[in-house]
This record gives sequence, C-alpha cells and structure tokens, in this order.
Amino acid sequence: MKFHVLTLFPDMITDGLGTSVTGRAIDRGTIQVNAINIRDYSRDKHKHVDDYPYGGGAGMVMQPEPVYLAYEDLTKQSGSRPRVIYVTPQGATFTQSMAEEFAKEEELVFLCGHYEGVDERILEEIVTDYVSIGDYVLTGGELPAMVMIDAISRLIPGVLNNDESAEFESFHDNLLEHPHYTRPVEFRGKRVPDVLLSGHHANIEKWRREQSLKRTLERRPDLLEDAPLSREDIRYLKTLGYDTENEMEKNK
Ligand code: ADE
Repeated sequence: MKFHVLTLFPDMITDGLGTSVTGRAIDRGTIQVNAINIRDYSRDKHKHVDDYPYGGGAGMVMQPEPVYLAYEDLTKQSGSRPRVIYVTPQGATFTQSMAEEFAKEEELVFLCGHYEGVDERILEEIVTDYVSIGDYVLTGGELPAMVMIDAISRLIPGVLNNDESAEFESFHDNLLEHPHYTRPVEFRGKRVPDVLLSGHHANIEKWRREQSLKRTLERRPDLLEDAPLSREDIRYLKTLGYDTENEMEKNK
C-alpha cells in the first residue's frame, strides 16, 4: 500500500510514521509513505502557498495552484488517480470500518490543510472523501492523516507480527476487549483473577467474554445495539441490568 501525503510539514509525517510499527513496515517495504511538500510547487518567488481570504475575515487560506500542481505531479508519477482524502473537522468521522474500506485500496492520497482552510476550488477538483478524526479542532491535518494511516496500515497483511495480530482487538464483534494481566501475580495488593491462573481454558474464555460484555455495557453501551450477542450473552447482560433489546434478538 502506498500513502501519499500532501503537506506543508513533510518531516512531521516521515518522523511520526517512521517510528515503531509503521516504521518497521516502511523499512520492510510493506507500506510506502510519500510525503510531498506542497511548498515545493509554489511558483511564487518567496514560496508562498497562502493568501488573504476574498470577502475578508481572519486568517489565511491555502491557495489552489500549489496543491493542484503537487497532485498532478503525483498522478503522473504513479500513473493512476487514487482516492484523495481531505482531513477536516467538517468530514465524516473516521471509524474502524472506514479503515477497513481504505485498506482495500492500493494507493491513497491525504491532503493536509493548514491556516484557516484550503481554497474550495481545489477541494472540488481533486477530493473524493472528507474525513475527520473527531469533534475537535487541531492546528493542521498532519496528525489526523497519521492517525488514519496508522489505523489503515495495521490492517495490511505483513504489517503486524503474529503476536500483534489484528484478529483480537477492541472492536472485535463490536465489543470492547477484556482486561489483560501479566506478572507479577500480585501488584500493590491486587491479585490477578484466579480463573486466569487456573489453566481451565473453557472457564477462562467464559470469564473473558463476560468481562468484554461488562466493560462494553459500562463504557460504550451504544456498541451493544449492533453486537452479535448469543442468548447466553444476553442472559449475562441482564444480570448486570441491561434491558435494551439487541438487534439480533429483535429480528428473531
Ligand atoms: N484538521 C483539524 N482538525 C481536524 C480533525 N479533528 N479531523 C481531521 N482534520 C482536522
């Protein structure tokens, strides 16, 4: 998978993603990250890429031409016209299922804005997806682009090791994961739950499933509505005071 990032701060992208799991995937060639400096495409002798907004108002707006030239150069080099994701708080909120959808692409382009925004005409011209990472405003699009690239990358075969497997994770079956414990058996007076030391696999699985259900009910009850729950899961949740009918139950 190849990620192109159109940005005014390419070092932020290469430094951030060049570390840890994504860094290892880049070194192995499993993913490629091509950070493109929009400023290199400015035709202005001072390399300006922004200007005052027509109609007045605070802040500066990124001009369309450098972004367009950077994008055209990228498409010429790659020989394709990949999806262009504009990271913006005005976009649809990024989710795990969006990450799964994007992970099917061979190449993706992320456009990172700065200042007050980007000239609307370049967005109309090249952007295919408007995506936000949440209802808060950051100083630029680089961190959101890195968040999305990280979430997409770990779904690509070969990026995670077997023991980092994407199989079991927080949103598996729309349930939060059970708690984890390692040595020592006792830490500041708190013991690891006995069942985990018992070696009884069926009991351990049952305990983990119940912990997942309990945690999801306490922290993210909204997820339960679409979780594939068995009769036994529902029976257990009812003992915890859960009374909303699950979708699977409703459809029976
Ligand atoms: N740019 C600034 N804030 C953002 C956010 N929350 N999501 C995506 N892009 C952004």
